[in-house]
Amino acid sequence: MSDVRTGVGAAELSFEPSSRQNYWARVDLAGRAVVVFGGGGAALRHVGALLHAAASVTVISREAEATVDDLAGRGLLTWEQREFDEGDLEHVWLAIAATEVATVDGRIARACEQRRLWCIRESGGEHHVSGVGRVTLVGGGPGDPGLMTIAGLDALRAADVVVADRLAPLSVLAGLGPAVKIIDVGKVPFGKATPQERINRILIEHAQAGNAVVRFKGGDSFLFGRGGEELIACVAAGVPVSVIPGVTSAFAVPACAGIPVTHRGVTQGVTVVSGHVPPDDPASTVDYEALARCGTTLVFLMAVSTLPAIAEALLGYGMAPETAAVTIADGTLAQQRTVRGTLSTIAKDVAVAGLMPPAITVIGSVADFDPAAMPHRTSPDDPSTAAMIRPVGANSDITSR
Ligand SMILES: C[S@@+](CC[C@H](N)C(=O)[O-])C[C@H]1O[C@@H](n2cnc3c(N)ncnc32)[C@H](O)[C@@H]1O
Repeated sequence: MSDVRTGVGAAELSFEPSSRQNYWARVDLAGRAVVVFGGGGAALRHVGALLHAAASVTVISREAEATVDDLAGRGLLTWEQREFDEGDLEHVWLAIAATEVATVDGRIARACEQRRLWCIRESGGEHHVSGVGRVTLVGGGPGDPGLMTIAGLDALRAADVVVADRLAPLSVLAGLGPAVKIIDVGKVPFGKATPQERINRILIEHAQAGNAVVRFKGGDSFLFGRGGEELIACVAAGVPVSVIPGVTSAFAVPACAGIPVTHRGVTQGVTVVSGHVPPDDPASTVDYEALARCGTTLVFLMAVSTLPAIAEALLGYGMAPETAAVTIADGTLAQQRTVRGTLSTIAKDVAVAGLMPPAITVIGSVADFDPAAMPHRTSPDDPSTAAMIRPVGANSDITSR
């Protein structure tokens, strides 16, 4: 027989079939039950992608890291705090064995095999160390994987270790090689949190062991992301480190809700503020009086529980009660919710709607931006655009629409 690829005679070379490959299938999991065994990094590889595929996800694990805990708290998945039981495999379409204990994952896989249930088994693959020994801080954008940068995605694909936050676009993790180690270091407001010093240590130790480490965060690492501290820690430890900026939620979340944070003729600036402490807290260094009269769009992050105090402070410093305000929760994600109001109503509106973090509040004329109501500007001097929406700030005229 002649070799089909080389055409040389049988005496010289016989035909060897190429090695067997798995068959790849894309399955529609929308609304279908999937069970994930494990609550750590191995499980995290799948959880984000399963949720992005709109699967109905149940995690079964006695312990869970911050991100699974957070997703369960936000009602995005169900977490049952117990061990694997064969009954868990009834009525599900897919099982993920990701307990990080090889014997348990093996038991789950065998039980699935007996039931002819597809099972993805995580343990067994060897962790790969490339010898690169460096850290890359990657800003992952506001949550939708399509809003990651190409450079960020390339860095993830080249990583040996990914140290992930809960607000990063976790669905991309499922596309990484099985040898990539995923470490969950999420921080849940008022909940589970990995101390920053521990995160710094994890980055440095893995890089010093020869790994290409990606620190994978939501938004941009340098906007309320503690990226600066991680950069300093790496430099101090002599670990090579680089930064890949991300699309910040501060601008992208309003944008995806149709709100430009600046608009020609209306607002000449935008101020981004952390609302993690209320205005009267000794830890607050923000000048709310200046904010109330600065005339820029105000964008508040980490300000769901503090919104009543923030609105009250701005009103107290003379900002117009009718100033438009909007809060957007889970921006860019399937479960995105938007609540519109005014400075005087927004805190109550958000509470009534039951919005939960992560959320962004925009205060200022652009917050009720309505492109359909806006005239198309024909000349740069055309004042008509400005007349359509209200100027921001204290003592400002409210222009009727
Ligand atoms: C610790 S800060 C990190 C900000 C991040 N570094 C960035 O540039 O977007 C977390 C806050 O960002 C905001 N945030 C992040 N992702 C969001 C999203 N998808 N929807 C709404 N707000 C989001 C929320 O205010 C959340 O509490």
